[in-house]
Amino acid sequence: MADATTKNPTSAPQDTRRSFLEGVAVGWTIFSAASAAGLLATARFLFPNDLFEPPTKFKIGPPSRFPGSKDGTVNEDFKSINGIWIVSTADEIYVLSTVCTHLGCTPNWLSAERKFKCPCHGSGFYSSGINFEGPAPRPLEKYKVSLAPDGQIEVDKSTKYQFELGQWEDPNSRLKLA
Ligand code: FES
Repeated sequence: MADATTKNPTSAPQDTRRSFLEGVAVGWTIFSAASAAGLLATARFLFPNDLFEPPTKFKIGPPSRFPGSKDGTVNEDFKSINGIWIVSTADEIYVLSTVCTHLGCTPNWLSAERKFKCPCHGSGFYSSGINFEGPAPRPLEKYKVSLAPDGQIEVDKSTKYQFELGQWEDPNSRLKLA
């Protein structure tokens, strides 16, 4: 009677071949994954995210788009994409940065209370940009604003004006309406 534990003499080479093929498959999978990760890293290097950032200089429409009021009307149309508020009073338009001067969070405009309120640590700013509560050490910054030859308002975020440095006196920090 044959021993039940006796191995088929032809099974050993088959097992070896199967193990080899499995090893090749695993190796190939790892190589493919590493290659894909390398390609992705190269693509991110060649096409960095900042290529898709909005331009620093852009037009926002004619002054008539921003009807003013005695206390200052806050327009939020460009907050999410361009990071600005447009504030129009009876005789001028200025552009405020949406970056809180404490630690850089984005405040919200609370129209009923007529103030920008930062959700991070509670700083508050008037529609003028002046800080009046919370830990923010200085007012919001303003950006350069002008009237382009085509009659549209042009904002230039590469030039900013800080109140505490006396830069709000610069005529380019606001657009005077006739
Ligand atoms: S970041 Fe705005 S209050 Fe701290």
